Amino acid sequence: MNSIETRRSIRKYKPDEVSREVIEQLISAARLAPSAKNRQPWKFIVYTGAQKDSLLDVMEKSLQKEQTTHSLLPQSQSGLPDAFNTLKIMRTAPVIIIVMNTGGISPFEQIDSDSRITEICDTLSIGAAVQNILLRAEELSLGTLWIANTCYAYNDLTDFIGEKGQLACVIAIGYPDEAPAQRPRKPLSEILEYR
Ligand SMILES: Cc1cc2nc3c(=O)[nH]c(=O)nc-3n(C[C@H](O)[C@H](O)[C@H](O)COP(=O)(O)O)c2cc1C
Repeated sequence: MNSIETRRSIRKYKPDEVSREVIEQLISAARLAPSAKNRQPWKFIVYTGAQKDSLLDVMEKSLQKEQTTHSLLPQSQSGLPDAFNTLKIMRTAPVIIIVMNTGGISPFEQIDSDSRITEICDTLSIGAAVQNILLRAEELSLGTLWIANTCYAYNDLTDFIGEKGQLACVIAIGYPDEAPAQRPRKPLSEILEYR
């Protein structure tokens, strides 16, 4: 409960490296998450250093392309400035973890209802694994940012990553260089209903 309450999205990181031992503690926490049919539909790809820089260069070029063409997500143009801001934050984080849904397909492909249900279940499972990572990171005094703004650069990023499956989300990780206040939450009275 303590780490649930103290965790924040961190958008400023110290340049200090995160050791592989620490990263393995985070992924060990992810492994223990529940998953639909125990499919464990996740794979975590860790980018640091020059590889991370190349990944983010791809994202930057792709966001710029989307800014001029609006070809990928034409109805979500208003979110593009936030995606550029997220990219800036990702540059300051020493570690970027790509979270793949190993059974998923590109969100730009059509799927039938059966596959959609499977995708929803696997996405829920991945969410549980990601939250385990965030909470374990909080216990280890690390900061994290859960990122979905990669969607604007989806095709270029997945081409670069070269991994089968769906790019579900990204997590930026590093030692925090800010201590933000808790962001507002809806009151219980709004989100809880007894019947
Ligand atoms: C699925 C998901 C995607 C998110 N994507 C982004 C993102 O791309 N960029 C960003 O700055 N924050 C992103 N966030 C962080 C949210 O903005 C943040 O969790 C929310 O504002 C609540 O703040 P808190 O995490 O400090 O409690 C994302 C969070 C989730 C759960």
